[in-house]
Amino acid sequence: MKLARVVAIVVVIVLIGLGGFVAFAWRSEIAAIDPPQPQSFDAALVQKGATLAALGNCNSCHSAPAGKSFAGGLALPTPFGTIYSTNITPDPDTGIGRWSEAAFIRAMREGVDREGNHLYPAFPYDHFTKVTDDDDKALYAYLMTRTPVRAEAPANDLPFPLNVRLVLAGWKALFFESGPYAIDRAHDPQWNRGAYLVQGLGHCGSCHTPRNALGAEERGQEFAGGEAEGWTAYALDASSPAPVPWDADALKAYLASGWHAHHGVARGPMAEVTANLGTVPDEDVQAIATYVASVMGPPSDAAKARGDKLLQQPGVHQPGTDAQTAGTQTIPVKADGQDQGALIYAGACSSCHDAGRPLPYGGIKLNLSTAVNGPDPSNPINVILYGLPAAEGQKSPVMPGFQGVLNDGQMAALLIYMRTTFSDKPAWKDLEDKVADIRKGDREMTVHAADGTSSAPANPTRQNTSW
Ligand code: HEC
Ligand code: HEC
Ligand code: HEC
Repeated sequence: MKLARVVAIVVVIVLIGLGGFVAFAWRSEIAAIDPPQPQSFDAALVQKGATLAALGNCNSCHSAPAGKSFAGGLALPTPFGTIYSTNITPDPDTGIGRWSEAAFIRAMREGVDREGNHLYPAFPYDHFTKVTDDDDKALYAYLMTRTPVRAEAPANDLPFPLNVRLVLAGWKALFFESGPYAIDRAHDPQWNRGAYLVQGLGHCGSCHTPRNALGAEERGQEFAGGEAEGWTAYALDASSPAPVPWDADALKAYLASGWHAHHGVARGPMAEVTANLGTVPDEDVQAIATYVASVMGPPSDAAKARGDKLLQQPGVHQPGTDAQTAGTQTIPVKADGQDQGALIYAGACSSCHDAGRPLPYGGIKLNLSTAVNGPDPSNPINVILYGLPAAEGQKSPVMPGFQGVLNDGQMAALLIYMRTTFSDKPAWKDLEDKVADIRKGDREMTVHAADGTSSAPANPTRQNTSW
């Protein structure tokens, strides 16, 4: 009797709790509309939206390899399962053609779809929430004037209960803060523009900030370094592992072109970011660079002195030119002794990395490379195994892949040699296993034209005039 009463009370409490949660989690549907006429959007607004879409990398996630722009279907692997990006072309049945502007703004601000379902944060609305209504309106105008594509996104592959969208309300209650970017009056407009873009549309933290066990970015550790698609996204704060400290000028050049003479090339997922940033107005890249430089802070005297010393060695490329320092043609490293890694390096790598060759074949001196000085060997392993294919029709950095040439043991020996010779950081661990793992993933390198043209958003002028 007593026990039955306790059980009944517990059941009632649980039901009230559930009811309260559902009421809290519930979002209403926003009525479907007839797809707006593309002519109804102002051309200048559409153009502005094109730039914002490039800043937000909408094309990178919403286009599958060889698929149509913005038609979705890209598989995004997460530690919890695979989530597919959706079709954001104005197709009325499979895209967002029936979404009103208000429904679109709600999705960006709150991560809720038109019908009221919570969206997975693989869609980085934890950043997009900071975007202003005006910018969302421009993005909406841009997307609604794209060619509608009929394409259904594959169903997500997530285990119960993560496949129930209602549970996302719990995730949001714990980790999500909605609302547009608030201007920081302590800083000038350029810094604020940069902060707005980096924290908002650019969602730089979604790769460069570490995540907790539930996949949310760690508060208080913004830009302390994260992981993306099997690549290390290096710290962009004071703990940046770059051997030559970054400054705003170097950041601007790297972000807009995907390469800097003192830092090397943008690879993997960062290549898509720089390809897009290559298409946006100079002031925006400048603002992003200004803000990131301020997050990093000025280098310590010791770091600055160390960087300056590295730049005085012969064979360093000069920013903005093909030339190397001091006219000295450096001689490729010759290995004496029995170190297997040293022998491989001298035979296979040194002629490009130490001989002062210009681009496209002249790699940076590897003691300048963040890859060799980073906390994790994934990036150099990716680059050495798969190389850097040429971007079509231009003088972009080119490096052959060594996956068919070097076995796991030889790769490990080479990496140990590089780490001890070109860095003063602690040794990497379990290299052979790591190489074997990455080899299994067999990922292709994506390389975009350094000026961004290869993956620029689709032509920003109206495409969709057929209906
Ligand atoms: C990091 C990858 C990523 C980026 C970048 C990204 N999205 Fe998405 N987006 C997704 C995923 C994944 C979904 C699906 C989420 C889900 O199913 O819950 C999605 C869903 C959406 C939706 C909801 C569509 C629907 O049918 O429910 C909209 C609208 C959207 N994205 C717009 C954008 C815009 C605009 C941009 C650029 C400013 C953008 N996305 C950038 C991954 C991304
Ligand atoms: C044909 C010339 C060539 C050869 C051979 C070559 N590289 Fe490269 N490598 C390049 C170029 C060009 C780049 C891109 C510019 C840059 O970042 O240095 C590059 C980039 C790299 C990077 C990334 C540097 C960074 O942080 O941006 C690493 C690491 C690297 N190479 C290691 C090697 C190793 C190890 C070998 C030998 C197994 C090798 N390379 C052989 C030309 C070459
Ligand atoms: C999709 C994931 C992703 C996003 C989004 C992203 N990055 Fe990166 N970023 C990376 C990865 C991975 C690397 C390392 C690869 C490499 O060495 O180029 C990187 C490298 C960098 C570097 C070079 C750091 C160094 O020391 O070599 C800078 C600077 C940088 N990112 C800035 C940004 C900024 C600014 C943004 C936002 C506008 C951004 N990133 C957005 C993944 C990302």
